[in-house]
Amino acid sequence: MSAFAVPTACILGWPVRHSRSPLIHRHWLGRYGIAGDYIPHAVPPEKIAGFLRAFPASGFVGGNVTVPHKEIAFASVDRTDAVAEALGAVNTIFFEDGKLVGANTDAPGFLANLDQSASDFGGRGGPAIVLGAGGGARAVIWSLRERGFAPIHVVNRTRARAEALAERFGAAVRAAGWEDLPALLPSASILVNTTSLGMEGEPPLEIDLEPAPDELLVTDIVYVPLVTPLLAKARQRGLATVDGLGMLLHQAAPGFERWFGTRPEVTEELRQLVLADMESR
Ligand code: ATR
Repeated sequence: MSAFAVPTACILGWPVRHSRSPLIHRHWLGRYGIAGDYIPHAVPPEKIAGFLRAFPASGFVGGNVTVPHKEIAFASVDRTDAVAEALGAVNTIFFEDGKLVGANTDAPGFLANLDQSASDFGGRGGPAIVLGAGGGARAVIWSLRERGFAPIHVVNRTRARAEALAERFGAAVRAAGWEDLPALLPSASILVNTTSLGMEGEPPLEIDLEPAPDELLVTDIVYVPLVTPLLAKARQRGLATVDGLGMLLHQAAPGFERWFGTRPEVTEELRQLVLADMESR
């Protein structure tokens, strides 16, 4: 007997109040007329490993895992998908043949967003610049490498972290420092911000885009605010931009399909719903 009246998924994080995942999944449940629910569930770091061990008895059909639990989730599930394996992080859990499986949909979500929002993304290739070397950068680097971007320059304040990523992802990935940007920009095909700079409450990301080629595509995985200072500057410079909200929406879809059996669509209506929620907070 499940603890829930209807199939229920959760988002596990600490804190988790800020998460917009319940809004997204409940929208889809309503839209597809599915009897189900999706709830935030705050679990402190010292309890997450035990919580995941006991997850099969929790009654949840699965869920998402967010900061700071993605690496512990990777180590706690019975098996992982190929992307999670490559990233060492899990953001989606579900059951298969009685086993708890951990997947990573951040990278596919990043790609789906660019495929939907930048028509030439698929065939673009060329040199990429990734700003930052945290968990977000991992997902982005894996994605860009998957689509044949090379070389991928990882620019980070703490160079050792960029070097660790270059080691993890192999020859296509090269570590660089912020001082290298003016030399890297003129030949770049895509520029991705994965740092927290430009996020609401954080300092802005200040880089000079003048040396960038007119064809540069600029995207940010930060989506609060929707138009980050980096994206605003890129638009002023006449460059193509893609905001980060689509990544959040697209990363949610594979989990929903696993738990509730329907592949949901990322629509303008959903985007507007999340935007309205962002504006109301
Ligand atoms: P996530 O896992 O969400 O990507 P993270 O691991 O905290 O987050 O990484 C945040 C990224 O933003 C890092 O690349 C960090 O640089 P360091 O590795 O040097 O810490 C970068 N970052 C945060 N604040 C910064 C700042 N003021 N200047 C430059 N980079 C900054």
